[in-house]
Amino acid sequence: MLHTIDKILEEARQFKAESKDEIEQFRIKYLGKKGTLSELFRNFKELPVEEKKEVGQKINQLKQFISEKIESLLSGISEEYRGDLHQDLTLPGPPVSLGARHPISVVRNEIISIFGRLGYTISEGPEIEDDWHVFSSLNFPPEHPARDMQDTFFIEKDPDILLRTHTSSVQVRVMEKESLPIRTISPGRVFRNEAISARAHCIFHQVEGLYIDENVSFADLKQTLLYFAREIFGKQVEIRLRPSYFPFTEPSAEMDISCQICGGKGCNVCKYTGWLEILGCGMVDPNVLEFNGIDSKKYTGFAFGMGIERVAMLKYQVKDLRLYFENDIRFLEQFKAAY
Ligand code: PHE
Repeated sequence: MLHTIDKILEEARQFKAESKDEIEQFRIKYLGKKGTLSELFRNFKELPVEEKKEVGQKINQLKQFISEKIESLLSGISEEYRGDLHQDLTLPGPPVSLGARHPISVVRNEIISIFGRLGYTISEGPEIEDDWHVFSSLNFPPEHPARDMQDTFFIEKDPDILLRTHTSSVQVRVMEKESLPIRTISPGRVFRNEAISARAHCIFHQVEGLYIDENVSFADLKQTLLYFAREIFGKQVEIRLRPSYFPFTEPSAEMDISCQICGGKGCNVCKYTGWLEILGCGMVDPNVLEFNGIDSKKYTGFAFGMGIERVAMLKYQVKDLRLYFENDIRFLEQFKAAY
């Protein structure tokens, strides 16, 4: 039987195909229901046990050889583009569809480039953080209800280790390590224990910014954010700052941009207010500077933070945030022109 298998192998090896039809014939002859291999397997069953191992291996090798040969023959012949083996090398190749950057990456890169023009560096840090970098050093006292503003995912058993809820933690790491003045943005993924809906997700992306130097004022913050808003949404954009609260900034504000859909007149997107909320900001609380070893008598600073999904939704008028995570090619392909 071993000898027969060798002969079949040699015969299969010699085979050459001119067309898809011939390859199909070849496949039926060897792998078809009534083909050579079926017959070999049938005979194999009758063999004495001592011979089974060696013969079994050989039949399997033969089967694999034939399957691979069929595949390689088929890949050498693509009738649609080449027409049997009579190739016309002047025909255009099969179309290769171009990918596109994900809209979140497009917007993140744009934000980075805008702040880059203002001299901001980029800083990154770990996604799994400790309480100190996410909360305590940012002036969230223990048990303070402000910790509830950001529903936190804790790593099992150890309440000190958690997934960062904002990239402010990266800025703490920058304050620890780097010398002043500091002017940096931290883009990154953040995690919050929120129900997934059209407006919220448990994973999203932020860019937060921090500027610390002597004599940094609220006017600097406002001018920086106005510049940013006009670069990303267009020169016609107006901004508005509303008083707000964050433990790490004082005073704190939330920034709105004038609604780009109705031009500020009021429509259902801006809920007839003419304004859309886009980011949180404020002057760095002196406590935060002191916690991080910075002399708050000499230095002041501002900080801001925004969700990239939110900016992208406003920029491209996407109504459901979940679309960014579903990887539906029909959605993603619309951003081909965006970069
Ligand atoms: N860290 C805040 C958040 O994630 C945003 C923020 C940053 C607000 C800096 C003010 C200043 O919601």
